[in-house]
Amino acid sequence: MSAANAQLRDLGTPPRDARQTELHPDLNHAHVRFINLGKTYDDTVHALQGIDLAIQRGEVFGIIGRSGAGKSSLIRTINRLEQPSSGRVLIDQVDIGDFDEDHLVALRRRIGMIFQHFNLMSAKTVWQNVELPLKVAGVPKPQREQKVRELLELVGLQDKHKAYPAQLSGGQKQRVGIARSLVHDPQILLCDEATSALDPETTQSILGLLREINQRLGLTIVLITHEMAVIREICDRVVVLEHGRIVEQGPVWEVFGNPRHDVSKTLLAPLQHGLPEELQKRLQATPQSADAAVVLRLQFTGASADEPDLAALFSALGGRVRLLQGGVERIQGHALGQWLLAVTGSTLDADTLRTRATRWAQQVEVLGYVV
Ligand SMILES: Nc1ncnc2c1ncn2[C@@H]1O[C@H](COP(=O)(O)OP(=O)(O)O)[C@@H](O)[C@H]1O
Ligand SMILES: [Mg+2]
Repeated sequence: MSAANAQLRDLGTPPRDARQTELHPDLNHAHVRFINLGKTYDDTVHALQGIDLAIQRGEVFGIIGRSGAGKSSLIRTINRLEQPSSGRVLIDQVDIGDFDEDHLVALRRRIGMIFQHFNLMSAKTVWQNVELPLKVAGVPKPQREQKVRELLELVGLQDKHKAYPAQLSGGQKQRVGIARSLVHDPQILLCDEATSALDPETTQSILGLLREINQRLGLTIVLITHEMAVIREICDRVVVLEHGRIVEQGPVWEVFGNPRHDVSKTLLAPLQHGLPEELQKRLQATPQSADAAVVLRLQFTGASADEPDLAALFSALGGRVRLLQGGVERIQGHALGQWLLAVTGSTLDADTLRTRATRWAQQVEVLGYVV
């Protein structure tokens, strides 16, 4: 444990909140807990309203929502870059609402943060950027050097320690940002759109690094993004914000497999295949001939423990079954997917086909008929 953490531990214990007894016992173990949190700017902009949320120790927790939904406001109440207008934030069961400046300094050392635009000092080298917060905290030179060396190795930038930010790629800049965020051995890492300025390949490598940090160092990671692909890649649980309120939350596989709110569906849309246009044009509401195929959409929400048994499904439908589009992906061990099937020559009518298919898929829809 670093000196800063030890210091916070000392500072953090006394204000143990008597009011916490009103919390549900499970929630008492949360690493970060928001209770009826609200944030209003300029008396008129209700950025957050009635937020109740518990983030567990060691998890990678995703916050997703459209621009302006309140994501940054929410995450910034964790290190009090933003002061809540109402409600409470508890970290390790300690209400940080009454923290004075000394407590806040210690708190912020225990919580690292990385940003979309990296926030590096352009006139300082990679080494100096990472070293700076240690200097500010008065850490002696030998310890500083050891820490910076260790962190540059962790993020894979040993060779770049003399480079200036302008000489680095976006991914390398974010690696510096990550190294800098870890200098005080934080227990929580906040990531505000940390990969939003990066191309897909670099995004993957940064997410891989964050996952490694989460697993190797046991950090709790709270991550904001507007991209569902980022959530799928790295998060354990996700909350969807809209107009400052929570509209959906749960394990990632559950929200991906069966999004309930329109915002979640909209955010997921880029990851999903709609009906191919060419098929959409040919689709008819009623069968125009005896040999018309019934088009079914099967959704696998991950709720079943077993992957669909194709032979059993096809024989239950009868006739000839063609796969028009679809696949299965695995998230947190759950098989999720959406298939478009065309069934011809079955003795069953469309509605019976639909009912039969629900034995294998959690949601089945008759989309229409094609010749
Ligand atoms: N400092 C501020 N002053 C006034 N309004 C703000 C301020 N910061 C954010 N807002 C407003 O609060 C709402 C939520 O913003 P923000 O938390 O940044 O959302 P997000 O990160 O999801 O894009 C928006 O309507 C935004 O314009
Ligand atoms: Mg934001």
